[in-house]
Amino acid sequence: MSTIKVGVIGAGSISEVHLQSYKNNPEAEIYAICDLNEARAREKAFSYDASKVFTDYNELLALPEIHAVSICTWNNSHAEIAIAALEAGKHVLVEKPLCKTVEEALRVEEAVKKSGKLLQVGFVRRYAGNTQILKQYIDDSELGEIYYAKASCLRRLGNPGGWFSDQERSGGGPLIDLGVHMIDICWYLMGKPKVKSVSGNTYNRLGNRANVKNLKFYRAADYDASLNSVEDLANALIRFENGASLMVDVSFTLHAKKDELSVKIYGERGGAELEPEFTLVSEKYDTILNVTPQVDHSSFVFQEAFQNEINHFVEAVLGRKLTLSPVEDGVEMMKILCAIYESASTGREIEFS
Ligand SMILES: NC(=O)c1ccc[n+]([C@@H]2O[C@H](COP(=O)([O-])OP(=O)(O)OC[C@H]3O[C@@H](n4cnc5c(N)ncnc54)[C@H](O)[C@@H]3O)[C@@H](O)[C@H]2O)c1
Repeated sequence: MSTIKVGVIGAGSISEVHLQSYKNNPEAEIYAICDLNEARAREKAFSYDASKVFTDYNELLALPEIHAVSICTWNNSHAEIAIAALEAGKHVLVEKPLCKTVEEALRVEEAVKKSGKLLQVGFVRRYAGNTQILKQYIDDSELGEIYYAKASCLRRLGNPGGWFSDQERSGGGPLIDLGVHMIDICWYLMGKPKVKSVSGNTYNRLGNRANVKNLKFYRAADYDASLNSVEDLANALIRFENGASLMVDVSFTLHAKKDELSVKIYGERGGAELEPEFTLVSEKYDTILNVTPQVDHSSFVFQEAFQNEINHFVEAVLGRKLTLSPVEDGVEMMKILCAIYESASTGREIEFS
């Protein structure tokens, strides 16, 4: 097999970067598109020369010529579609989060094992150029043992509305949408330590603030401000069995002066910041050094990271690489996210066994 035929399920906002990235990859052919919204699926099929259009993903999965699918639908259908795709013998790239619950995640993992097919979770920050540079430094022990990490993704005004704000379809607010990226990238760089316990808080104090004027913010394709059943702020402390800890906070809305994005890792020999600006920190001859790697981009570049992610997926499907974000990592992330929600609702720390 020299090229793979791909189907894209869900033709909304994020599908655009999947489609562009497949289009740029000479070993991939965009073959079919599916969306509940037929006009949306047709429009993408027209733009990307896909031969087939569906509104029912089962019909797409029934095509024997398709090797792999990208799942870019709302979170509530990720597990169901991933399992159906694996059972139909397709390799799967599923957008983050893997699904909505731990129970669903375990069922997806089981389907991966049974099918022997590949499932890559869309933890796109792992594939970013700067992440991979930093990973090399960490793997070479430049930072020593990592014992603390801290990440924030705070939007002062940025509840996207629509399905994102509908608990039933999303599984939660900024924690499951943004926190999944923040927690995953720290956990990955920390060497995926085993979780000991999780303690978290969620708040639903400000609503979606759709009333705010004079300031633009990202809106979902099917924006609906009347619906908002998710938290607007979440924070958490995650303790690991090796003694390390991770602190994270994320928001859709907050009375903050400005938006904030930071990812910081601290080790015994050095530290690193991936965001807001890629920096390495160390000490030499009794002097502290802040080192600025000379790279094309000092922070996350959306398109580049997605291109790397899709290229990696295609290579993994062709059997030349192992995925960097396998299903078991998606399962672990669901355990952490769900434990944070549980801790927030019960007001106690959740111990992992
Ligand atoms: N990796 C990232 O940085 C990133 C960024 C944005 C979104 N996402 C993820 O991508 C997914 C989609 O988000 P989006 O922003 O594109 O949303 P969107 O609302 O713009 O698009 C989702 C599309 O999926 C379609 N859909 C829903 N259920 C379907 C089903 N069962 N069968 C076929 N089509 C279905 C909808 O009609 C819609 O067109 C979410 O899981 C989200 O978390 C990831």
